[in-house]
Amino acid sequence: MPTTVTVTGAAGQIGYALLFRIASGQLLGPDEKIDLRLLEIPDAVRAAEGTALELQDCAFPLLASTEIFDDPVKAFDGVNVALLVGARPRTKGMERADLLEANGQIFKPQGEALNAGAADDVRVLVVGNPANTNALIALSNAPDIPNERFTAMTRLDENRAVAQLADKLGVGVEDVQDLVVWGNHSPTMFPDLFNAKVNGERAVDQVDMDWYENEYIPRVGKRGAEIIDVRGASSAASAANAAIDHLSDWVLGADGLRSMATYSSGAYGVEEGVVSSFPVRVTGGSYAVEEGLEVGDFAQAKIDATVAELKEERDAVRELGLI
Ligand code: NAD
Ligand code: LMR
Repeated sequence: MPTTVTVTGAAGQIGYALLFRIASGQLLGPDEKIDLRLLEIPDAVRAAEGTALELQDCAFPLLASTEIFDDPVKAFDGVNVALLVGARPRTKGMERADLLEANGQIFKPQGEALNAGAADDVRVLVVGNPANTNALIALSNAPDIPNERFTAMTRLDENRAVAQLADKLGVGVEDVQDLVVWGNHSPTMFPDLFNAKVNGERAVDQVDMDWYENEYIPRVGKRGAEIIDVRGASSAASAANAAIDHLSDWVLGADGLRSMATYSSGAYGVEEGVVSSFPVRVTGGSYAVEEGLEVGDFAQAKIDATVAELKEERDAVRELGLI
């Protein structure tokens, strides 16, 4: 039986960069047939239909069917993999948290719809910003689905962190291992060079602390804004690429540590009940937060700051009645 994959915001810019990669087999591997479902708001259904025509024109052998919906209940009925992309992107001068009220309203009904109809093995990735807290809204409205089935995307931050470090040290990206990002998908995120390795050696020992703290961390944290500034629109192909990385690792497994924002059960002192990025290890279709990593005073202060922001976002959506 094909795997049912639903993509929300299918007519948006990330959707356009994502759907063809999913249909070509890059998400689930070369042997898995896919029933692809595109969810859009009514005004954008026509554009999604156009994308569906192009998907047909690719003659992808793995694409068993493509359907378009404007109703989340139908789009998520029996879904195995749900990519919640559809949401407004920020524009110049905004922080991602500025989107909380407008976008938060999207994730409550989608959580309810997932709860009503998703398959038992559903995997949910939230991309729409503010991604961590939107994932919290979705999972809070899906009480019958285990919390660990909901994740938010910090893989783009991880990929950015790896690329920036490799560039600085003049090594290949494949020489960087276990570089994970903690916390919120926001400028407070913490890319952890204490547990990362470059060619097997501790990464933090290979860089200057002043560069790490005052150049690298802000550069990675504000990369989304840099893209908006230079490109004039928020990141799309790199975001789609990270979504493929995140989900294909979750389904197919990966070597080393990865960054995934997941519901906190209190590990590393991260307040229980926020969706925070953690170092995880993925095997056999499931992930687990890695235990026993080094978290010194510097790292702990950074983690505490990003978690404090997540708590504020949680309190704000609680005020709005979304959780
Ligand atoms: P976009 O504006 O190009 O597309 C968004 C699409 O979502 C639109 O087609 C819109 O009609 C649709 N949409 C809106 N409400 C919907 C709903 N209720 N159901 C289904 N579809 C709906 O935006 P984009 O550039 O594709 O970005 C999408 C989101 O992803 C934004 O919130 C952006 O900030 C976020 N993003 C997150 C990351 C990350 O790393 N987590 C990276 C890049 C972008
Ligand atoms: C990104 O990190 O590129 C996205 O979250 C878009 C944004 O608003 O920064």
